[in-house]
Amino acid sequence: MAREFTSVGVVGLGTMGAGIVEVFARNGIDVVAVEVSEAALDRGRANLTGSTDRAVARGKLAEADRDALLARVDFQVGLDALHSVDLVVEAVPERLDLKRRIFAELDRVCRPEAILATNTSSLSVTEVSVATGRPQQVVGIHFFNPAPVMKLVEVVRTVVTAADVVADVEALCARLGKVGVTIGDRAGFIANALLFGYLNHAVAMFESRYASREDIDAAMKLGGGLPMGPLALLDLIGLDTAYEILDTMYRRGGRDRRHAPVPLVRQMVTAGLLGRKSGQGFYTYEKPGSSKVVPDESTPQERPAAGDGARPVARVGVVGSGATAAGLVEVFAGAGYDVVQVAPGAEPLDGLAEVDLVVEAVAEDLGVKKELLASLDGVCKPGVVLATTTSSLPVIDIAMATGRPADVVGLHFSGPVPARPLVEIVQTIRTGEEATATARAVCATLGRTAVVCGDRAGFVVDALLLPYLNDAVKMLEAGYATVDDIDHAMKLGCGYPTGPFELLDAVGLDVALASQRALYRELRDPGFAPAPLLEHLVTAGYLGREAGRGFRDHTAR
Ligand SMILES: NC(=O)c1ccc[n+]([C@@H]2O[C@H](COP(=O)([O-])OP(=O)(O)OC[C@H]3O[C@@H](n4cnc5c(N)ncnc54)[C@H](O)[C@@H]3O)[C@@H](O)[C@H]2O)c1
Repeated sequence: MAREFTSVGVVGLGTMGAGIVEVFARNGIDVVAVEVSEAALDRGRANLTGSTDRAVARGKLAEADRDALLARVDFQVGLDALHSVDLVVEAVPERLDLKRRIFAELDRVCRPEAILATNTSSLSVTEVSVATGRPQQVVGIHFFNPAPVMKLVEVVRTVVTAADVVADVEALCARLGKVGVTIGDRAGFIANALLFGYLNHAVAMFESRYASREDIDAAMKLGGGLPMGPLALLDLIGLDTAYEILDTMYRRGGRDRRHAPVPLVRQMVTAGLLGRKSGQGFYTYEKPGSSKVVPDESTPQERPAAGDGARPVARVGVVGSGATAAGLVEVFAGAGYDVVQVAPGAEPLDGLAEVDLVVEAVAEDLGVKKELLASLDGVCKPGVVLATTTSSLPVIDIAMATGRPADVVGLHFSGPVPARPLVEIVQTIRTGEEATATARAVCATLGRTAVVCGDRAGFVVDALLLPYLNDAVKMLEAGYATVDDIDHAMKLGCGYPTGPFELLDAVGLDVALASQRALYRELRDPGFAPAPLLEHLVTAGYLGREAGRGFRDHTAR
């Protein structure tokens, strides 16, 4: 007979535990909420009341329901209070020794029938389970942050977990209004295995001053379509928790260098910059626990509208005859610029003699672009800014084909040009400040958010997004989870608008593969090597939605 779960225990009331308490209590389940000390208990209680008060203020929870919810929670110090619950969910810091110690103690305190669950993100549930005398009743119940909001729960079964325990936990997840995805015990499960390499890479970009924190986050929100930027997300997760997860994933996940925590993460933890919970992380918050970002010394000053070195631009030349060129003409003309479009080969370039800015959108081929830029050099007047829309070629190679590399920038419009609000302005080591300032000013008149970055493969967005997509393919190839489960996990656990396979089918597998190859060529890290399955699908002509088939079959839809 299925278990009832009328009373549950939650151990640790930090970022996750307090939210997990709320999920159970909202759904009519009595909760014994346990902390290590009176002071920690007070903080945990404040975490819970803060969250429920916000829900009331936003009209998402009636006052009476909040009071009933809080009345279901019994706050206690010490594990002994858990003697009669049906299930315990542990949410203490991500350290194996600590979790094993707590599970051994829970095994002693709890009723023999009780299920013991860990909310670990990356540790081995199996190793935690064998600290008890009942490993068949131990599972992972991995909630996502914030637990009351995110729909996904990863249910982790070990080789020892009993089938009825898994079935009962899955039923409980459904009762909580969550979508449970059941998987085996592998470092990072689905979502974190795909998320943390990306987050760590974003920190590396920030640490190396490749782009600013605001630009990295804006790029992923506006260019990648994600609900939060990676650095803001790390502040939400907590830098201490993120460090432990990365460290465990590195050790358990085959020592992939992309999971080796970037030194800055460790330094921030040591300095007490833990993110929202301490009031400061990559950003500064109004107070500890607040989600409100306040300005600090790194906040960019509002730029003066003029006088920052931008050259005047009235006439714009667009070179090319494809979809990108057509989109550029639409966008520039719509913003009031005089636009001259030239299809090279078919028309002479001398129509560009009077323009102030040239944007080229010819074939994505280094030879073609270099030849074009060399020709423009002979046609355009001095002081013209020459911009390339390349998404994967080194801008410096294109710039050096001219005699004026200081005037050459990359202008990478994300996605279909008229649709996406982001432009990456790519500065080479030869780009002059005036050219960058001009590009910024032009993007502002187009109503676009511009982010400035260096000249490296994939710029910001593709460099961060493509390896994640490639990792999803590797996970599928390894047989760990299905296309649907992986897409679900990223949408419901991380709030992504599309899952990785939906995105790959939309972008085109061939396009993704070409960009991933460019990244791998530049970074030389085996972790960036294209997934063999991606290569095979491209070879087979399964290129995605437009081709009728990619990871999914689109012919029947
Ligand atoms: N932060 C996230 O976004 C996130 C998401 C999903 C899962 N997780 C996982 O949840 C777990 C908790 O992470 P967190 O971010 O909430 O950590 P946290 O540091 O915010 O909270 C941990 C809490 O555990 C308490 N604690 C420590 N020792 C204890 C003990 N012996 N008995 C009772 N309570 C004790 C601490 O006082 C603290 O309140 C970790 O395993 C983490 O990997 C975190």
